[in-house]
Amino acid sequence: MSSVDIAIKTLNHLEPEDFRVLMIIEIDMSRHRYVPEDDILRLSEFSTKQVKYRLDRLSRFRLIYRWAGSYVGYVLSMAGYDCLAINALVKANIIEAFGKALGVGKESDVYDALTPDGRRVVVKFHRLGRISFRQTRRLRGYIADRRHISWLYQSRLAAEREFEALRRVYPHGVSVPEPISHNRHVVVMDFIEGAELYRVPEVPNPDEVLDEILQNVRIAYQKAGVIHADLSEFNVVLNPYFHILIIDWPQFVTVDHPNAEVLLRRDIKNILTFFKERFNVERDIYEALEGIKKPLKNVK
Ligand SMILES: Nc1ncnc2c1ncn2[C@@H]1O[C@H](COP(=O)(O)OP(=O)(O)OP(=O)(O)O)[C@@H](O)[C@H]1O
Ligand SMILES: [Mg+2]
Repeated sequence: MSSVDIAIKTLNHLEPEDFRVLMIIEIDMSRHRYVPEDDILRLSEFSTKQVKYRLDRLSRFRLIYRWAGSYVGYVLSMAGYDCLAINALVKANIIEAFGKALGVGKESDVYDALTPDGRRVVVKFHRLGRISFRQTRRLRGYIADRRHISWLYQSRLAAEREFEALRRVYPHGVSVPEPISHNRHVVVMDFIEGAELYRVPEVPNPDEVLDEILQNVRIAYQKAGVIHADLSEFNVVLNPYFHILIIDWPQFVTVDHPNAEVLLRRDIKNILTFFKERFNVERDIYEALEGIKKPLKNVK
């Protein structure tokens, strides 16, 4: 069962006091490797009995982990963090119901969901620096400290970055899912139909598809000042009408980034190599790059 499955299953059972304890642990994790039970007691202003009851419940729900060393402390699990984000998005009327998992991968879990007005959206949970509690328990010292809390920050940062990229390029008409909202390590965006290019064996118009990708890279570059920096056949979706959308933006850089040129070139090279190998469409990389650099005076 994925952490999102655990979170969704548990969410309805949680009471405001549970959320309060979860949030205290979340915040205090920036200061402690394991949040001391005493801190939770003090910050929550609950009775000792109440705190023990909540911690016990949350542990049983697998939303937090208990650690007993020189003191007793707690950390959020991935499912606990998912719960906080989902709850915030539901409360803000952004999502209402979850559908199926569209992809559970290395760096993200992507779910289908519905908004209160019935719009189909995608909820992407970023997972960076994923490390199991058992592993952290085996690790010692400074590195363990850093690695332990960093999954939370890295995942949140990735979501913020992805949302920021979408927010920058979408208004200029770059073909990307519409960004809807984000919270913690989660981005909500429009659901798009289609398949990633690597899964498409054949297209009737590969030349046009390639042109469309390059044109979108150009608009992102020229109008939004953004370079994708992880562009490949895995992050370009071909919709049923043979038009493309570019997804997966957390690693974007702006055009003034010191590595901007190298990253742009790598993006284009990935795409050109794929089109050559898969569809036998060949383009000169210098010409393609020149095209992207050409100002967009005549384009809306
Ligand atoms: N807006 C969307 N609409 C429909 N499906 C999507 C959307 N965004 C992502 N997906 C699906 O989820 C998959 C993973 O998304 P994405 O490429 O953004 O994440 P990732 O970080 O590469 O994840 P992973 O590490 O799992 O590969 C995509 O290949 C696609 O199938
Ligand atoms: Mg991807």
